[in-house]
Amino acid sequence: MAEQLQQLILDTLDAQLTLPDTRALKIPGQSSTASSHDAQITILGALNSLFSREARLARGSCLGRLPERGSAPFSAQDLRRAVGDETAKVGQGRAFKSGWIAKEGNGFVKVVSNITDTTQIELREVESSGTLAAGEKALAELRKRKLIIQRKGQWFTVHKGVNFSTSIAKPETDLTVDMLTSGSWKKSTFKKYNFDADGIPTSGGALHPILKVREEIRSIFLEMGFEEMSTGTFVESGFWCFDALFVPQLHPARELQDTFYLSDPSTSLPPPSDYYKRVARVHEHGGYGSIGYRTPWSHEESHKLLLRTHTTASSAAMLYKLAAKCRGEDIDGDLSQKSQPGVANPSDDGFRPAKLFSIDRVFRNETMDATHLAEFHQVEGVVADRNLTLADLIGFMRTFFRKMGMKNLRFKPAYNPYTEPSLEIFAWHPLLEKWVEIGNSGMFRPEMLAPMGFPPDVRVHGWGIGLERPTMIRYGVNNIRTLVGHKTSIENVENSPAVMF
Ligand code: PHE
Repeated sequence: MAEQLQQLILDTLDAQLTLPDTRALKIPGQSSTASSHDAQITILGALNSLFSREARLARGSCLGRLPERGSAPFSAQDLRRAVGDETAKVGQGRAFKSGWIAKEGNGFVKVVSNITDTTQIELREVESSGTLAAGEKALAELRKRKLIIQRKGQWFTVHKGVNFSTSIAKPETDLTVDMLTSGSWKKSTFKKYNFDADGIPTSGGALHPILKVREEIRSIFLEMGFEEMSTGTFVESGFWCFDALFVPQLHPARELQDTFYLSDPSTSLPPPSDYYKRVARVHEHGGYGSIGYRTPWSHEESHKLLLRTHTTASSAAMLYKLAAKCRGEDIDGDLSQKSQPGVANPSDDGFRPAKLFSIDRVFRNETMDATHLAEFHQVEGVVADRNLTLADLIGFMRTFFRKMGMKNLRFKPAYNPYTEPSLEIFAWHPLLEKWVEIGNSGMFRPEMLAPMGFPPDVRVHGWGIGLERPTMIRYGVNNIRTLVGHKTSIENVENSPAVMF
């Protein structure tokens, strides 16, 4: 009990210290009240004598003996002998100031017959009342002279309240079935609802940062009038992933150490045969103004099944489909038909412009490190129209990346087997303060487009960027393995800020 009370007072004190005023405090859960007197209590200390030094010097022990004006004065030594060194030193000055003593020759004489020791009166007042009616200035003077010390104190009075108890009764927080059936609820005390309390955070689904960025990019494409390509085919043939794109069959990217090949099944169904023949021909012998690679064509290489190494494989399939009408085929649900109902016109070569995009997964046989994974996402945009130029591609990319928040772009000539010219895309990274490569682009080669059946004035430009890198930059992630894979923290995913482009 004593301990409790002590704790109670301590709690109250704590509470009081944080309160600016002196309200009576209600002590939580105890129904007792404690009131506080905000008192500026002056504690007397260092008061071994109630006579000030000047008074001791001027009267008492020596005033009587201090000669009057006209008589032989007290020398400084006499004075010290009479009242002691300290009193002689301090008291002398103040006695002078009060006009009680005066100097005569080298000595001292008294000039009044009666003195009022105000210092002593003040000290007495402080002793009895704890303060001085004269106010702070007079107190400060005493403090300065080290005659008093002042301390702040706070007093609390603790009373037993109506619900005072020596045991702690825990109020009920829930009304249970048991309480209702037994009727015990009638005698129970219930805790009041705290409507200001924070609720338990609800757990709900959260989009992974990569998916959030994917949504942002997707909405940029959609607002620019692009149509999403179907990219469900993770497994592709060598034909669609490489041959259709005029990637030579001996290209290093097609080697085992770069590409994952399937062992079961290991070969694809045959691609459309006429198109297949045209592609094989342009590789082996050239055509459409090209001399080709002039190396023997391998059916086996073309039929191999693999995990696609880029989404350009899907773009190739979509472009082949887009050219269907140009080839004189009439495919139901074909993109060119969907976007513009066909007009019977003999000069119509069947071509319809298209803007296509995809965002999906690709696979590469990479050595995994902080910035590389064997599977990642590619964002790809493809535009097909008559007489497009490289300037159209650059202009389009500037518009697109500005919408992603990247205003400063640079393009560097590069090499891609399926595009000519090709450009690497660099963006200025304001935090890293350097140019970072963000993607690759180019004008698709005639060796790729002509076998599909596009008219010669149709140009297709395309570009691809990774999805992980912009996501890592946006979320300040420097190791990709904290973003993707078993080390991803669900909590971080749930708490990561919304993406703002
Ligand atoms: N496929 C390319 C890559 O993997 C990107 C790209 C797409 C380049 C289209 C040019 C045109 O990096």
